[in-house]
Amino acid sequence: MKFEDYKRRGSCRSFRKPNEWMRAAVKIIICIVFGFSIGVSFRDISPPKLKLVPSIDTYIGDKNSGRSTQTILNVKSVSRDNVSTKAQKLGDQSQIFVSTNPRGAERLPPAIIASESDLYPRRLYGRPSEDLTFKPKYLVTFTVGYDQKDNIDQAVKKFSDNFTILLFHYDGRTNEWNEFEWSKRAIHISVPKQAKWWYAKRFLHPDIVAPYDFIFIWDEDLGVENFDAEEYIKLVKKYKLEISQPGLDLKSEGLTWDMTQRQEELEVHKKVKGNPGWCTYPHLPPCAAFVEIMAPVFSKEAWRCVWYLIQNDLVHGWGLDFALQKCVEPAYERIGVVDAQWIVHQGVPSLGNQGNGDDGETRWKGVRKRSQNEWKMFHDRLFKAEEDYYKSLGIENTVPEANWVNMDKNK
Ligand SMILES: *[C@@H]1O[C@H](CO)[C@@H](O)[C@H](O)[C@H]1NC(C)=O
Ligand SMILES: *[C@@H]1O[C@H](CO)[C@@H](O)[C@H](O)[C@H]1NC(C)=O
Repeated sequence: MKFEDYKRRGSCRSFRKPNEWMRAAVKIIICIVFGFSIGVSFRDISPPKLKLVPSIDTYIGDKNSGRSTQTILNVKSVSRDNVSTKAQKLGDQSQIFVSTNPRGAERLPPAIIASESDLYPRRLYGRPSEDLTFKPKYLVTFTVGYDQKDNIDQAVKKFSDNFTILLFHYDGRTNEWNEFEWSKRAIHISVPKQAKWWYAKRFLHPDIVAPYDFIFIWDEDLGVENFDAEEYIKLVKKYKLEISQPGLDLKSEGLTWDMTQRQEELEVHKKVKGNPGWCTYPHLPPCAAFVEIMAPVFSKEAWRCVWYLIQNDLVHGWGLDFALQKCVEPAYERIGVVDAQWIVHQGVPSLGNQGNGDDGETRWKGVRKRSQNEWKMFHDRLFKAEEDYYKSLGIENTVPEANWVNMDKNK
């Protein structure tokens, strides 16, 4: 795909002043990520406005991707009829077909395949090998509206240079952020009125964020006075946590679960006693193996599983917290809450106000209702998927379903 093509598509405007090259590079990266993500994820929901790059599909999950790969590379059309079979029959070694390549890329010589990417901006000149003097090992994303700028400014300062900063903008305001020095080295992705898990599914494919050892997918309304990201990572490594969150201070708004509340005297905790009758299965959510969706931190390996669990249409992610445990083993050891680095959940309705309706309250209620519905839908889908799986094996599903029974009462 040529750069001119991106320019023409309009979502990435051209740039002229030399001092804009940095922003331009970032935009190009975003375009590439965006284009690929669309190809990957837009089979079910495709608002016409977002169908910017309809012909691009990656190998992930698409039957026709072989054809698309050709389109991208502008390769001459080649008959696709059973290339390998024919080649083998005729003893023709001139046709490449490597079945172990990523799906759709079988006709490429393996050594040219770039199956993973990153979010590192590059220069437009000089030697590519000298572009990157430093590669951050961690990624933090915030889903933001400009009204929360001061809070995000505070938060970003708690993340060292070892982090790539990625902002998902739900209010379309991106340029204003340049008042902050750090904003110039951040990556900005702007799609109006979307929810955090919508962005995560589309822009954080595990193959795209492959170089990052830990990925923070955070809300915008978190108080970080007592939080330091480097110290947090040290603890996560020490306790071998694949999925974690900082403890929530008792001052937090809307504290729902015992498990995610900060325990003052501890560095990390992985389980709680819970109210009587809650924890029939003490190793399962919400009594263990549980963090909430407001400030989760994933290891690279855990994220590679969790990304697949996120549903394209269930944008609020409710219920995901109960299912994260499916991705790590043993979940009650690998999921935990970091008490020594803690945050305050401020409970700003922010994105809730982006809903549909005349006044703030109606909008907020609409979003809330959808979130709750999504929770049930997600739960039912997961339950059915497991049933189907075990049925296909001809065995009974004996895996306890977390302590789901309590959930309707408590959230
Ligand atoms: C190609 O392979 C498929 C499955 O192996 C087979 O059903 C089909 O007949 C083959 N087509 C040709 C043209 O050989
Ligand atoms: C960044 O990571 C490196 C390697 O882990 C570490 O030595 C360094 O102290 C980190 N930087 C900060 C600011 O903590």
